[in-house]
Amino acid sequence: MLGQAFCTLCEEKNIPFIASSKHEADITNLDSLKQFASGAPCTHIINCAAYTAVDLAESEPEKARLINVNGVKNLGTIANELGAKLVHYSTDYVFNGLGSSPYHEEDLCDPLSVYGKTKFEGELILKEMQVPYCIIRTSWLFGSGGKHFVQTIMRLMQTKEELEIVADQTGRPTYSKDLVKFTFLLLSQEGVFHFANQGNTTWYAFAKEIYSHLKLMGMPVKCQTIKPVLTECYPTVARRPPFSVLSTQKLEKTLQIAPRDWQESLKEYLEEEVPCGV
Ligand SMILES: NC(=O)c1ccc[n+]([C@@H]2O[C@H](COP(=O)([O-])OP(=O)(O)OC[C@H]3O[C@@H](n4cnc5c(N)ncnc54)[C@H](OP(=O)(O)O)[C@@H]3O)[C@@H](O)[C@H]2O)c1
Repeated sequence: MLGQAFCTLCEEKNIPFIASSKHEADITNLDSLKQFASGAPCTHIINCAAYTAVDLAESEPEKARLINVNGVKNLGTIANELGAKLVHYSTDYVFNGLGSSPYHEEDLCDPLSVYGKTKFEGELILKEMQVPYCIIRTSWLFGSGGKHFVQTIMRLMQTKEELEIVADQTGRPTYSKDLVKFTFLLLSQEGVFHFANQGNTTWYAFAKEIYSHLKLMGMPVKCQTIKPVLTECYPTVARRPPFSVLSTQKLEKTLQIAPRDWQESLKEYLEEEVPCGV
């Protein structure tokens, strides 16, 4: 999802880039990466690759670790050889979410899931390497070309009359297009930054906002009722942090610019990027 958003923006802005698929550059295979990198001199490596299947990771920890930890180490090695900076993404799931105030970059990490643990280990391994890096933690990502909450909810709203949505998990949605734009602004920075759209919400309130937009846009909606439920009524294999709100104060102070509200970004995504009748 994020990789596609990068390609779109770079094409629009005529920014020279080389994008790769898993088959062209497998980040778990250093030789394959070296071969790919030998023809790709660059100033920045932007790593949009990851193992992102949060629930599946509980039964595939080795695979998740291979991609989210070893893969990052390999990219660090390549960045070192090319003299490039490595821009890497991490997640709100590095926090346990048991707090009630927004998480800052330096706050204690205590991931609850295999996915969160491997993403945290990926951060640590990169910090230990002698390579310039920028780690951007983000949350609740949506956008074109990926599997995400907005897409799932839209499909369910078109096929089911009643939806039950978790109302006791709070976070900050992030539009992939906005994350790409802010990544470009952060290219000269080093260290860890948080990026998410402005405003907290629950999955339930997020779903209601999607519903309102679909109605306004005249999209076919079968759903009549959206019911708030507790996480315990909707058990998942991996534990999620109940409150994973990322503070973006550091980024706002550094760049002197704030992310826009998630509702505005959602509206733009639905109006501009979602074909009728998904
Ligand atoms: N999605 C979210 O809600 C969310 C939230 C917080 C943080 N993040 C982070 O944001 C970043 C981007 O996430 P995303 O949602 O755009 O992920 P995504 O849509 O799942 O894309 C990840 C990509 O990595 C590829 N990949 C997997 N193994 C690879 C390998 N060995 N070598 C090269 N490529 C490989 C995948 O290919 P295949 O699909 O073919 O395996 C997929 O195209 C990730 O670091 C993620 O942890 C995401």
